[in-house]
Amino acid sequence: MNIPQLTDFTEASLDAAFAAVRSEADATVAAPGFDAEQFRLEWLGRKQGHLKAISDAWLKAAPPEAKKLIGQRFNALKEQIEGSLASAGTAETKPAAAGLDVTLPGSAQRLGVEHPLVRTMAEIVGVFQRMGYSVGLGPEVESDFYNFESLNFPPNHPARDTQDTLVVAEQEGKPLRERLLMRTHTSPVQIRSMLEQAPPLRLVIPGKVHRNDAADATHSPVFHQVEGLCVDTNITFSDLKGTLDHAMKAFFGSAVKTRFFPSFFPFTEPSADVQISCIFCGGKGCRKCKHSGWIELLGCGMVDPAVFEAVNKRRIELGRDPVYDTRRISGFAFGMGVDRIAMMKYGISDIGLLYSGDMRFLEQFA
Ligand code: PHE
Repeated sequence: MNIPQLTDFTEASLDAAFAAVRSEADATVAAPGFDAEQFRLEWLGRKQGHLKAISDAWLKAAPPEAKKLIGQRFNALKEQIEGSLASAGTAETKPAAAGLDVTLPGSAQRLGVEHPLVRTMAEIVGVFQRMGYSVGLGPEVESDFYNFESLNFPPNHPARDTQDTLVVAEQEGKPLRERLLMRTHTSPVQIRSMLEQAPPLRLVIPGKVHRNDAADATHSPVFHQVEGLCVDTNITFSDLKGTLDHAMKAFFGSAVKTRFFPSFFPFTEPSADVQISCIFCGGKGCRKCKHSGWIELLGCGMVDPAVFEAVNKRRIELGRDPVYDTRRISGFAFGMGVDRIAMMKYGISDIGLLYSGDMRFLEQFA
C-alpha cells in the first residue's frame, strides 16, 4: 500500500488522508474471496502491517503540535479495522462468496435452560406471588444476630446445634452478635424485612443456605430454601393452614392433601411440620413414602412474640418506631427445602447431582 507523506496538518486534510486508508481496508474486506487471516497479517502485523507503517510515517514523524490530532484518528482507524475483522469472522466461517456451500450443515445456536433448582424455586415463588406475596432477598454471609440471636436462639442454646454452620475466620475480637457466618436458613431475612417494613407484610424469600453437614445422597452442605412470612392483625393458625394447603395443591396438583404435626423451632410458637399425601402413590403407601402414604415437606408456625420483640428492640436502635405491637399483630412463617422438592418432582436420587455441573445430568432438563 502506498502511504503518502503528510504535509498539511489541518483537520480536514488529516480526515481525508485517514478516510483514504479506511476505504482501502473496507474494499479488501468486502471483496469476494476475502481471507481474514491474510487481512489481519497485512493490516495488523506488528512488523510489516499497514497500521505499523502508518504509525511510523504519520504519527512518529509528525510535528509535536499535530501529534494529538493524528493520534486520535489513528486510534479510531485501528478500532475500525479490528472491528471489521471481528465482524467478518474467521477465514473458516466466511467462505468466498463464489464458493459458498449451502449443503454444509448449519451451526446450531444452543439455548440455555434454567437449572432445575432455579426453575423449582421460581415455581414455588410463583405460587405465592399469585396469592399477593412479594419477594424478599438477603445476604448469604450473615451475622450471628440475624441468623440466630434475633430468631430466639440465645448464645450457647442447644437449639443452635441443629444448625451448625461454617463461620468466617478470625473474628474472635468481635462481639458474638456481629460475627459473620454462612446463613443456615433464610429466616434471617424475616428479621431484615421487618426492620425495613411496617406491617402488614407478605413475603417469600428464596435463597441459598449453608450447613456443616457431611454430603450424602440426601444432604449437601449447600442447599436452597423458600421462606415465607405473613404479618398483619388477626393472623391465625388457620390462615397458615389454609395458605399452605392451597400452595401445596397449586404446586403438586389439587389431589394433594396436607397434615400438620407439632414440632419445634425457636422462632415460631406453636410450630408444626407439614406433610403432604405421597405424590407417587396417592397415599396408599409405596417405597418413596416409606409405606406411610405421607411425605414431610416443610416447617412452619406462628411467629414467636420474642421475635417481634427482637425486631422492635433493633428498630429502636436504628431510630425506627417499634411497630410490631404483639398485642395487635400476629403472623405466621414457613420454610421449605427446594432441593428435596426438586428431587421429588424430577425423580433425582442423589442431591449431589444438582451441584455437580455434569452436563450429562443437566442436559436432561433442556
Ligand atoms: N428456618 C427453619 C429451618 O431451616 C424452617 C422454618 C422457617 C420453620 C420458618 C418455621 C418457620 O429449619
